[in-house]
Amino acid sequence: MSVRSPNPVIASPRVLDLLDHLHGLSTFQEAQITSESYRQKDGFDDLMRDKFIALDQDKCWFVYQLLLSNRSRYVVEAGTSFGVSTIYLSLAVSQNLKSLGLDASQGKIIATENEATKAIRAKEWWNQAGKDVEELIDLRQGDLRETLKTHLPEKIDLLLLDIWCPLALPTLQLVQPNLHSGSVVIIDNIVGSADRYKDLIEYLRDGKNDFRNLTIPYNKGLGMSVYMGKR
Ligand SMILES: C[S@@+](CC[C@H](N)C(=O)[O-])C[C@H]1O[C@@H](n2cnc3c(N)ncnc32)[C@H](O)[C@@H]1O
Repeated sequence: MSVRSPNPVIASPRVLDLLDHLHGLSTFQEAQITSESYRQKDGFDDLMRDKFIALDQDKCWFVYQLLLSNRSRYVVEAGTSFGVSTIYLSLAVSQNLKSLGLDASQGKIIATENEATKAIRAKEWWNQAGKDVEELIDLRQGDLRETLKTHLPEKIDLLLLDIWCPLALPTLQLVQPNLHSGSVVIIDNIVGSADRYKDLIEYLRDGKNDFRNLTIPYNKGLGMSVYMGKR
């Protein structure tokens, strides 16, 4: 038996190949970026403008699996870039809708990207991934602190925080009124970027905010917080 973790994602060979290809491009680019560049303030946005910085593939598999496990239908993705993780979110929600006998109007992925050029590329990849993926995605281009202010689904099942660290807490606070008891918040690099996530981590661990927190030992840590509020 192979010791390699199996890929849980069900998709056509063409889409699976596309995902492998996009992760390959992202990993190659990231290997060229020094950890110092991540910390620089000046020129950071310029440096990142053509970078995927996609969520690691094993983390994407985990989030996909999680969405299947609770039959999630409404997801917000903070930080979309070229839309790699979004494809996994959309595949899972699409499969949930089918197994629940629901149509595409009864689920949604809200994707957010500030950079116009990235938003354009993301749409191209989603188009290549096919109608099932594309039709569920509501891409909000612009600063998510504005674009997430309105028209959120009443009940959001999962929030993926894959965004620059200082934006993570403001994003959570914007979305929190629409979380329900049992909603999940995923935070990328919660260990690797712990110093820059200080405000977010303090907020999540403050009992009055009603989150239960776990760090999953993926590379640089993946935070998984469950919202227990609104019982
Ligand atoms: C880590 S990347 C997202 C990667 C993506 N989730 C994936 O797996 O392919 C974070 C993205 O957030 C975007 N971003 C940064 N500030 C933003 C803002 N204020 N509003 C919306 N998007 C923003 C960046 O341009 C960048 O593309």
